[in-house]
Amino acid sequence: MASLTESSRQRVERIASRYPERRSALLPALYVAQEQDGYVTDEAIDDIAGILGISPAEVKGVASFYTMYYNHPVGRYIFQVCGTLSCALCGAEEVIRFLERKLGVRAGQTTPDGRFMFEVVECLGACGSAPVMLFGDRYYEKLTLEQLDQLIDELRSRPAEEPQRAPQLTGVDTQD
Ligand code: FES
Repeated sequence: MASLTESSRQRVERIASRYPERRSALLPALYVAQEQDGYVTDEAIDDIAGILGISPAEVKGVASFYTMYYNHPVGRYIFQVCGTLSCALCGAEEVIRFLERKLGVRAGQTTPDGRFMFEVVECLGACGSAPVMLFGDRYYEKLTLEQLDQLIDELRSRPAEEPQRAPQLTGVDTQD
């Protein structure tokens, strides 16, 4: 597993320097770690704890509390499909079945090539545009199976060596 690279360390340092209390930078620091490796490694937890001056147990506790942080390798492309009422009534189940067929995995599983994973999540706050899927920081509203089919084909055609991308949380600033 990986420790933070020098570049990631510098990013966390810069983020921490903006806060009166360095520990307040914990959530964006975890995003930096997740952007680096696709998930938050134990080594990154130790590094973040050292940089922010808190215990590894505190960092691990926060990382394991929030579902947007992963503690194991996940797919490079992660789809989050809303399964709550409005979306359930407007075709979320068809979207989920389609993903199972197209990707050959169930919710929470990663495809053997390490590229795709999908999750069924609670309301994404765009109920009027059901069914809704979140991919990275982009909402796909009134999603159709044809659009999803095209999206997956387009992602599959990308080079395998393209950098790993972790999901972003809108509103959490991890920029330098
Ligand atoms: S129920 Fe799906 S976005 Fe709210």
